[in-house]
Amino acid sequence: MPSCSSPKVSFIDQAPARESFADAVLAGLGRRPRTLPAKFFYDRAGSELFDRITDLPEYYPTRTEIGILRQEAPRLARMIGPGAQLIEFGAGSLAKVRLILSALEAPEGFTAIDISGSHLKAAAEELARDYPQVPIAALCADYTRPLTLPEPLASSSARRVGFFPGSTIGNFEPDAAVDFLATVHPIFEPRGLFIVGVDLKKDRATLEAAYNDSAGVTAAFNLNMLERINRELEGNFALERFRHRAFYNEEKGRIEMHLVSLADQVVSVAGRTFSFRKGESIHTESSYKYAIGEFQSLAARAGWLPAGVLTDPENLFSLHLLKTG
Ligand code: AVJ
Repeated sequence: MPSCSSPKVSFIDQAPARESFADAVLAGLGRRPRTLPAKFFYDRAGSELFDRITDLPEYYPTRTEIGILRQEAPRLARMIGPGAQLIEFGAGSLAKVRLILSALEAPEGFTAIDISGSHLKAAAEELARDYPQVPIAALCADYTRPLTLPEPLASSSARRVGFFPGSTIGNFEPDAAVDFLATVHPIFEPRGLFIVGVDLKKDRATLEAAYNDSAGVTAAFNLNMLERINRELEGNFALERFRHRAFYNEEKGRIEMHLVSLADQVVSVAGRTFSFRKGESIHTESSYKYAIGEFQSLAARAGWLPAGVLTDPENLFSLHLLKTG
């Protein structure tokens, strides 16, 4: 496993092999309905587009979750106690964890896990400059698969506290969310905590606006998946022949994002061809929304006990505190 260190951040590369993107794309385009896994949005360009989404006026989750963290960080820090090992899943730009790190008493270390290696490394180095007293590790990995924790975290007996913000857990199908929560549960035993950001169910108009912004950034984020296929897998998608579509599927409790073919067309990817009918779509993302009780029951199926829920005054977003038991 290749590993390299900058002076401040130890970087551990468990990035999935290039074939896993190719395999997923060929399998997903070949099946009906056609799907592309949302985790592949986050190449460098996609991660930058996502950062722009989080600043959009219509996209309420990020600023709402940050507001909750600002308000409640001291209480979280008291619950966590001194000397904890903090582990963030799907770390992205690392803006939110700063609010927790700043409130914590003498954290023993912080490990950021993300699938986007270059983005993660840059963000972790910036964090290390601002928190020089905290040992920081960046682990580039697909956390939906079993993880090998890096040293010194692996052999530390400190209390482990997970942080999974952004409602990224909403991208999993509910059964897969249970699997994920069950897979990571042993990492946190004994006495561990998991802080999970979960977008709440709400009115359709607010939900649909958040995924159909007027500046078109979400559309560009969605279409970047096709650009990535063109770049990395010798694809020839004509981006102007696909349209971004996002809507709330109330029955399933999820936002769905699709790329809809605007014409009958044939596309080739990695030497294989796929024909699309006009109006046919590729399902690129689901973003599940959970009422508080719904998410607590889901977490309970994975062995996690409720230890508190923090919300904003408008009840847009929730931060669940879960304990291993
Ligand atoms: C970071 C996965 C939670 O589902 O709201 C934002 C991703 N997709 N706009 C979400 C996303 C379109 C985001 N998550």
